[in-house]
Amino acid sequence: MDSSGSIGIFDSGYGGLTIFNKIQEALPVYNYVYLGDNARAPYGTRSFEVVYRFTRQAVVRLFEEGCQLVILACNTASAKALRTIQQKDLPILAPSRRVLGVIRPTVEVIDGISRTKHVGVLGTNGTISSDSYSIEIHHLFPHITVTGEACPMWVPLVENNEYDSPGADYFVKQHIDHILSVDPAIDTLILGCTHYPLLMPKIKKFLPPSITLFSQGERVADSLSDYLLRHPEIDERLTKQSGRRFLTTESVDKFAETASIFLSQPIEVEQITLG
Ligand code: DGL
Repeated sequence: MDSSGSIGIFDSGYGGLTIFNKIQEALPVYNYVYLGDNARAPYGTRSFEVVYRFTRQAVVRLFEEGCQLVILACNTASAKALRTIQQKDLPILAPSRRVLGVIRPTVEVIDGISRTKHVGVLGTNGTISSDSYSIEIHHLFPHITVTGEACPMWVPLVENNEYDSPGADYFVKQHIDHILSVDPAIDTLILGCTHYPLLMPKIKKFLPPSITLFSQGERVADSLSDYLLRHPEIDERLTKQSGRRFLTTESVDKFAETASIFLSQPIEVEQITLG
């Protein structure tokens, strides 16, 4: 497939496929290039500087592939790299192209979901320690109390296909219990990592039914649809031939096998190097 005019979707690994799924459901005619930096995942425990450098390399690669718009389908990259890429790199690299993240669209709807105005965020160490969710939520809704919980074992459970195993119960329960003990008034929990939707059945098992679990995929897809309507100058540069390409920095066989857990379609994968 000629990927010029594609929408690029980037994640450190497989998690972004949960976002890609919802985006392709909502906007099937566009061409997409998915890039997973699986060889260097997880990003969640890496420093700001490293996440920024890796994410920038991925964005540059997706631009080289012809993408006009790139979605950072990764909360860690959105938290640690998006702003610098938008403000510092984009004007030099490609002023007419765009890079968007997943945190802002999530935050925009949260006031309409929470009744108690006490919201919890589950994420990687990187996302939680960056405080990005608190900052973004307080910017729009200063009256909301935000509590973050880093869940460092959850991404490895998903990446290693252990998310459904009995052993995963311990790590899931531990963090659900902890965040609800820190703020018992929480009525909405944001899954602030794109890997976490796979853990949803386990999380629900330990969550009181009165608490809403907010998963980002549909919201990010809605927000992208809206963005394309509001930005016809970007939309007209996008190719609409329902093309799909999948790039990984790890082995293609491993990517294709694990991606089949996330996607219902069989895929062809290409290996690339970044940096
Ligand atoms: N899926 C990514 C996120 O949404 C992070 C996974 C990782 O730690 O690499 O934060």
